[in-house]
Parts: sequence; C-alpha cells; structure tokens
Amino acid sequence: MMRRFVIVGHKANTDGNFKLNDMAGGAGRLDVLLRCINSAFFLSHSIRRDVEVYLVLLGPSKPPVTIRLSGSEIRYLNPDERSTGSLIRNALLKAKDDKEVSSSPGIYVSRRGLEDVMKVLADTEIVYLHESGTGMENTEFGMETDLTFVLGDHMDLTEEEENIILKYNPIKVSLGPEILHADHCIVVSHNILDRKRKVKGK
Ligand SMILES: C[S@@+](CC[C@H](N)C(=O)[O-])C[C@H]1O[C@@H](n2cnc3c(N)ncnc32)[C@H](O)[C@@H]1O
Repeated sequence: MMRRFVIVGHKANTDGNFKLNDMAGGAGRLDVLLRCINSAFFLSHSIRRDVEVYLVLLGPSKPPVTIRLSGSEIRYLNPDERSTGSLIRNALLKAKDDKEVSSSPGIYVSRRGLEDVMKVLADTEIVYLHESGTGMENTEFGMETDLTFVLGDHMDLTEEEENIILKYNPIKVSLGPEILHADHCIVVSHNILDRKRKVKGK
C-alpha cells in the first residue's frame, strides 16, 4: 500500500532563483516543504520506500510546478534541509513543460498544478487533512488501498484548491483539535497508519 502526500506550497519559489541560506524567506517558505519531505521519508535508520511526495509549488516566477519524490527510487536524500533544498533547486532549474523529467534519482519535475496531480491520483483514496474533519484514529481505511493525503503548507488550502479536492470525494480527516505544522501532520499520520497496520498484522 502506497502512502502519498500532496503538499501545496502557496508561496514557494518556482524558478530556482533563491539562496540556500534563505529558504524560509526568499524561497517562499520552502523550509516548511523540506521538513515535510523529511517527515514523509525518514525513519531512524532507513527511508520509507512506500511513500511518494508531491510538492505543488505556486510561488514566483513560473507557477505551477510539481516536484514528485519517489521513496522507492530516491537517492542522495539526507536529513539536513540544506542538501534537500539543493535537490529541489536543481529540479526547478530542469522544469520544462507538463511532461515529467527526472532531475536526480527519484525526483521528477513538471509544470503541472493541483488539478493535474489530482487527476493522476484519482484512483487512490483521497484524505483531506483538516482540523475540522473526523478523527483519523477512528477512520477506517482500506488497508490495501493506496492513500493520498492532501494538506497545506504554512497556509490552508484556498477555497479554489478545496473545490478541486472535493471533486475526488475525499474523506476529511482531523489529527486533533490543535492546528499542527504540516510536517508534524505527516509524522502523526504515519504513526496512526503504522499502528493500524500493526494491529491488522500487516
Ligand atoms: C500549518 S497548517 C496551516 C495553518 C493555518 N493556515 C493557520 O495559520 O492557522 C498546515 C496544514 O496542516 C493541516 N493541518 C493542520 N492541523 C491539522 C489537524 N489538527 N488535523 C488535520 N490536518 C491539520 C491542514 O491541511 C493545514 O492546511
């Protein structure tokens, strides 16, 4: 069963023109997305190979861009944000059109937006993460079904983005009453799924 995380980077840079020491500023809160990558893939001594991350980047100067990271193929991913920032900048510099190109092993880039990404993931179970949803602990997931979690970065999804997601009949799921950082949402989601899987002996 694959776990996918689609994170919308509302202000994140799309032309690769930023400095690695300014990822929380000039790069449009790219730091948030880099922490999401860490949370999605890293275990203490290994990488979750059954995970894919889609970063949908909407900031200046050439939006939209989608960067897909595939856990089964990825190489050169380290826990520090700076080296991952460099992989993302390299991907942005290779974005051409709506066809995916590989920028490094396991990292793909295209000029696609949220609507295009959702079309690709339409046959997975869509989980829209929002604090007003129903509790994830009590949500029954098909444990053999691929799951796609959709979440905002430092900003919530806009109404327009929410309307795109709603076309795919998502389940709206909450991780608790407090508003969490996006990367923490990913850690908590993994943890709940890990424990659900363990109970079912998978
Ligand atoms: C940092 S939050 C957005 C913060 C929000 N705009 C604010 O300033 O209040 C990023 C994303 O994490 C997800 N999220 C945050 N808290 C959550 C919760 N308790 N349950 C489920 N998803 C949550 C939502 O998708 C949200 O858009």
